[in-house]
Amino acid sequence: MFFSLPSLSISQRPDGVRRLGLSPLPRIIIAAVAVGSIALLVACGSGNGGKPESANTSASSGGTAPIYNGDITSRKDIPFFILVGDTQRTSGYEILAGREQNDAPRQLVLDKIAEENPAFLVILGDLVFQGDDPSQWERFDEFAASIRQREIPVFPLLGNHEYFGSHKKAIDLFFSRFPHLHGEFWNAVRFGPLAVVLLDSNFERMGRDLVDRQDSWYKGKLAEYEKDPGVKTVVVCCHHAPFTNSTVVSDDAEVQQRFVEPFKSSAKAKLFFTGHCHSYERFALFGKQFVVSGGGGGPRQKLVVDPRTRKHEDQYTGGEIREFHFCKVTLEEGGRLRVQMIRIDEGLKNWSVGDEFVVN
Ligand SMILES: [Fe+2]
Repeated sequence: MFFSLPSLSISQRPDGVRRLGLSPLPRIIIAAVAVGSIALLVACGSGNGGKPESANTSASSGGTAPIYNGDITSRKDIPFFILVGDTQRTSGYEILAGREQNDAPRQLVLDKIAEENPAFLVILGDLVFQGDDPSQWERFDEFAASIRQREIPVFPLLGNHEYFGSHKKAIDLFFSRFPHLHGEFWNAVRFGPLAVVLLDSNFERMGRDLVDRQDSWYKGKLAEYEKDPGVKTVVVCCHHAPFTNSTVVSDDAEVQQRFVEPFKSSAKAKLFFTGHCHSYERFALFGKQFVVSGGGGGPRQKLVVDPRTRKHEDQYTGGEIREFHFCKVTLEEGGRLRVQMIRIDEGLKNWSVGDEFVVN
């Protein structure tokens, strides 16, 4: 396992308001949501104004935050890892807008992941709704108690919600729980013949310098893996989806440009995971697989499923609203990967494999 550089910058992505996903509502509720959204944007303005800022996690404001394990060396005999996205609770404003609160399914998903006991867990961003709110992190810690009890190593990405509010406070609350990240915003984890690259797609908050440094590191890493005979497959993860049929969030053009273009050029890069859209989607593009996995408990988003009107051909034949889930990636003989989307039914009783495919 190895890590990389830098620091960061913060606050809320412009689509943070749009992600509230307001459907037609009585005027009073729209007004309440608008006031809440404006308040949130003002709060985000208290960040560092987009300039890079060092994340000093050694003097964290996280105080007594529980520590998540980050050591996978003793777990190399476990042949699979798990990814889950968007475990955030629903905010009061979103509830006013009619969105669902999913405490029960979130708990079931995280407990099921703990029961599976993977080599490690990747969280694809948006662990909490408001990154600078200690009480929301405490709730997250409660939901994830079984993950810590099993000492499952956790590698989280920064979602847009991790940047909400006061920059330093939000970042300290994040990194205080994951000291093995060493305050670094992009990382790579080696897992047998697999390299898992974890990137920050909050470009507006990072500032030009960090974005350029990450681009350079990412391209260098892909080139290094191409030459390394010990690496068979590269998996790339970031929060914002380059492609989605969501009715709430859009294709991220900058992720396409900065992350997907180099990914397309790398023969070993075959799997791209994101969250942000609270659903499950799978797109087969450029001979590679793009999975959107935001099924960890955030309020679910409707997708466009009509083949005549949707933007991208989805390999998963689900409905407009899809199941809470996580993804399991198993290393099989010869370095082949088996990817399974593991979902729970609407009654929150039965688990099943909802989607499954193999990457050679
Ligand atoms: Fe998000």
